[in-house]
Amino acid sequence: MDAIQTILTRRSIRKFKETKIPDKAINKIIECALSAPSARNQQPCHLIIVNERKLLNAIMEAHPNAKMLDKAPLAIIICGDTNIEPNMDYIALDCAAMTQNILLATHALGLAGVWIGVYNRKEREAEIRKIFNLPHNIIPISITAIGYADEIPAPIERITEGRIHYNKF
Ligand SMILES: Cc1cc2nc3c(=O)[nH]c(=O)nc-3n(C[C@H](O)[C@H](O)[C@H](O)COP(=O)(O)O)c2cc1C
Repeated sequence: MDAIQTILTRRSIRKFKETKIPDKAINKIIECALSAPSARNQQPCHLIIVNERKLLNAIMEAHPNAKMLDKAPLAIIICGDTNIEPNMDYIALDCAAMTQNILLATHALGLAGVWIGVYNRKEREAEIRKIFNLPHNIIPISITAIGYADEIPAPIERITEGRIHYNKF
């Protein structure tokens, strides 16, 4: 699949098969994640690769929107390091760029994924911090659930009306 096709056909998938993901695909997703841009090239993001069922269940129980982890064999937690980048706005933006790279790589590899939000929700951040015993400088920003799709999502309409502005707002 070329890059444009990957971007245009990516969708959030929330139902997964339990089929394990080959290490080669996981490594490629990690490589693509690490290729994301970052403000001032500080590269402040850490990834926690979660493939133990016990931990996937713990995230699912702690997060109100993570039910899809009951079957998904993999979650990747994207965290920012405030010792590397003290500006929380940049951390959020850098981790968002990395999250999107993960979702696009996932889709290009014939897998599927969904972004699970953590940033700006103190209670969700606290739960993830507790499960993974994160030090104070490591801020969990987002989680991606990844696996083989077990659903075909309904078509979604993208809003274009009033959103595209040429040369003036
Ligand atoms: C910052 C952010 C947080 C999100 N959090 C969640 C979430 O917690 N649970 C979830 O199921 N989807 C979450 N999503 C996915 C959106 O619901 C999804 O991208 C949107 O409905 C558009 O659908 P699409 O991804 O198929 O284009 C999140 C997306 C973003 C960008």
